[in-house]
Amino acid sequence: MARHFLQLYLSIVATLAVVSWGQDQLWRTYAETARPADIHPSPAAVLAIVEHQLQSIPQERWPSAVAQLARDTGLDLELMEPAELAGLEQAGLERGEPAFWSDADDRIWALQRLAGSDRMLAFRFVNVGSRRTPFEWALAVAFYAAIALVIMLWLWPLSRDLRTLERSALRFGDRNWSFDAKIPARSPVASLADAFRRMALRIDGLIGSHKDMTNALSHEIKTPLARMRFEIELARSAETRQALLQHLDHLNTDIAELNAFVTATLEYAVLERAEIALNLAQHDFTVVVPAVTESVKRGARNDLIMSCDVAEDAKSVTCDAHLIETVLRNLLYNATRYANQRVHVSFEVAADSYRLCIEDDGPGVPEPDRERVFGSFVQLGARSGAHTGFGLGLAIVKRAAGWHGGGASVDRSPLGGARFVVEWPVGGAGAQS
Ligand SMILES: Nc1ncnc2c1ncn2[C@@H]1O[C@H](COP(=O)(O)OP(=O)(O)OP(=O)(O)O)[C@@H](O)[C@H]1O
Ligand SMILES: [Mg+2]
Repeated sequence: MARHFLQLYLSIVATLAVVSWGQDQLWRTYAETARPADIHPSPAAVLAIVEHQLQSIPQERWPSAVAQLARDTGLDLELMEPAELAGLEQAGLERGEPAFWSDADDRIWALQRLAGSDRMLAFRFVNVGSRRTPFEWALAVAFYAAIALVIMLWLWPLSRDLRTLERSALRFGDRNWSFDAKIPARSPVASLADAFRRMALRIDGLIGSHKDMTNALSHEIKTPLARMRFEIELARSAETRQALLQHLDHLNTDIAELNAFVTATLEYAVLERAEIALNLAQHDFTVVVPAVTESVKRGARNDLIMSCDVAEDAKSVTCDAHLIETVLRNLLYNATRYANQRVHVSFEVAADSYRLCIEDDGPGVPEPDRERVFGSFVQLGARSGAHTGFGLGLAIVKRAAGWHGGGASVDRSPLGGARFVVEWPVGGAGAQS
């Protein structure tokens, strides 16, 4: 704001300086070329000279002499009787001083009582100080036009960018869900456009994740419901108690599946909410990481080799322990599911960030899917055989890292499979927008 004000202010001041300098120069040139006839005489001087001349001739010749003088000089001279001068304060005139009088047509006269007579010598003059010539008017108009031009030049890009922003916002509001305004970086509204873009991205993300959630709901809930209805029909027609119990068992499995889905969805929905408050504290990761790895290992296949490598200086790591443990567990569950034989966990502390790495020797994540895989309800490949979650694990990982001001990514591990990396700044500062 201060920068824009200063810009406008300095441009106006600079223009004023240049224009007034130009006006000065013009005046100078104008004064030098003016003709003597253009310079108006002082009224008092004219009256004094004429009176001097009149005093040297008899009074009865005054009217003709004044008329003659007026003709000869081109000055507007007249002899007036006191009766003609309605509303004039005569006190000064009595003392022989000149006076000004404006007649019924608003013309201004200089008056002088002629010594030894009642009559007034009148001289109509043009007050150069109070009237502007067309040239002066043209200069004044040019002056204000120059200021208007500078302000317009300054404001035009601003209003153009604001219009672009407005059109994009309207398109966005029309359910287009993409904010495509192209605002130059040096525009005064660039930061506003940036804030809009971030907001649009967030809204787009939320809408996308709600769409995914609706799709997943219809799939994940409809399938078990259909199975349950089928099982109920079978249970109704079961002939033995044994068969009935078996159908009830199947029903129970479907209910457990629905329950797991709702729990996972709610857990994710909490993370998506904007007002989540991190419970930041210092934690000893040389203990936490091996303990979590060990507990996952106990539930995993026997043939898996799981190793853990935590940096010595990871004794006081700032984070929300519950969230980071969820991150680690989700990544470990995935790794144990996809690894052929080996899973390796490592944790490092760099100068300004923490880095948690989980890698395996499984099939890895294909390059084109490395962004998409972090979306909610995204599962790669055909879902075959046993039910394997809902595609929320990595979305939770990304969100939790985001709340710590960091991020999550995947690439290829030296072990041959996927390497998931979660990083967040030391201090766990700055939650995502
Ligand atoms: N270590 C890995 N190696 C190869 N592919 C992986 C690995 N981890 C995840 N993926 C792929 O990413 C997809 C999404 O993983 P995510 O953890 O989000 O969901 P999920 O494990 O299928 O279900 P959930 O975690 O909700 O139980 C998986 O379906 C899988 O295709
Ligand atoms: Mg998972």
